[in-house]
Amino acid sequence: MRPQHQRSDTAGRIDTAPIEERFADEARFFKAWFENPLRTGAVSPSGRFLARMMARYVDPESAGPIIELGPGTGPVTQALLQRGVAPERLVLVEYDPAFCRLLSRRFPRCRVVQGDAYDLPRTLADIAGGSVAAVVSSLPLLTCPEPRRLELLQQAFSLMAPEGSFIQFTYGMVSPVPLRNREGAPHDFAAEASPPVWLNLPPARVWVYRRACENAVARQTAGEALIGKIRQQTVKARDEFRETRDKVENKLRARAAKVRGEFAARTQKVRDDRNLKPALALLKKMNDHRKRMN
Ligand SMILES: C[S@@+](CC[C@H](N)C(=O)[O-])C[C@H]1O[C@@H](n2cnc3c(N)ncnc32)[C@H](O)[C@@H]1O
Repeated sequence: MRPQHQRSDTAGRIDTAPIEERFADEARFFKAWFENPLRTGAVSPSGRFLARMMARYVDPESAGPIIELGPGTGPVTQALLQRGVAPERLVLVEYDPAFCRLLSRRFPRCRVVQGDAYDLPRTLADIAGGSVAAVVSSLPLLTCPEPRRLELLQQAFSLMAPEGSFIQFTYGMVSPVPLRNREGAPHDFAAEASPPVWLNLPPARVWVYRRACENAVARQTAGEALIGKIRQQTVKARDEFRETRDKVENKLRARAAKVRGEFAARTQKVRDDRNLKPALALLKKMNDHRKRMN
């Protein structure tokens, strides 16, 4: 049997496609990268392990549309369908017209939108704010400036329900969306990273961003308070330790000084005794002589 990869058919079921199609995808992708490397962001489509890791963060039972940004030839779309997401819920936003044609052929029950993912209010003008379950992005974020990445995240949040997730992969080891502002304060969203997907070439990681909800803020505040308390107790314990150590050291020093003093006094006495010995011996001799004379 020839190696095959799976694909959704017109009924949204999963069927299989020949390996030639995978090579054709590689060639299409390479062509897109060659024509516009910054926009395509990779030389070949994501591998299935990475695509599955992305899909794992999507709840197929959630309500509302799921937006995929930069689907390319569709490996992540495929993984989402395999995860059980209904094809009618998927909205694929892709800039490249050739990829859009391919996606429409390959996933006819998904909605394909040719447009700019960095301008979601205009590209998805007909999608009601607050209705989207998740945004799954393969956009090459690192090729665009940080403020634009933050703006994209905010645009996605305003489309999503409060518990919605923005799912993004990156080849880098740090979050592709900055987690802190220039002053070093954390942004008002929560971020979580997947374990590295070593089997992807190059290895990648998936980041999930969620709006900071009151609970998360309360948890963070409680966590920070706990850390503060632990820090205080550590400082107190350290101070007590230093105080006790100083007391013990002073006592030992005083005792050592006393012992030294006593030792010196005894040594002196022995020395004095030794100096008296010849005189005492002479005295004794004189006494003995006196006794004999008497
Ligand atoms: C790194 S590729 C990922 C493709 C595919 N999801 C995968 O994992 O193989 C990035 C994709 O984002 C698309 N893209 C880049 N900038 C875009 C934009 N502003 N709007 C929509 N799509 C964009 C590119 O055309 C390309 O298909």
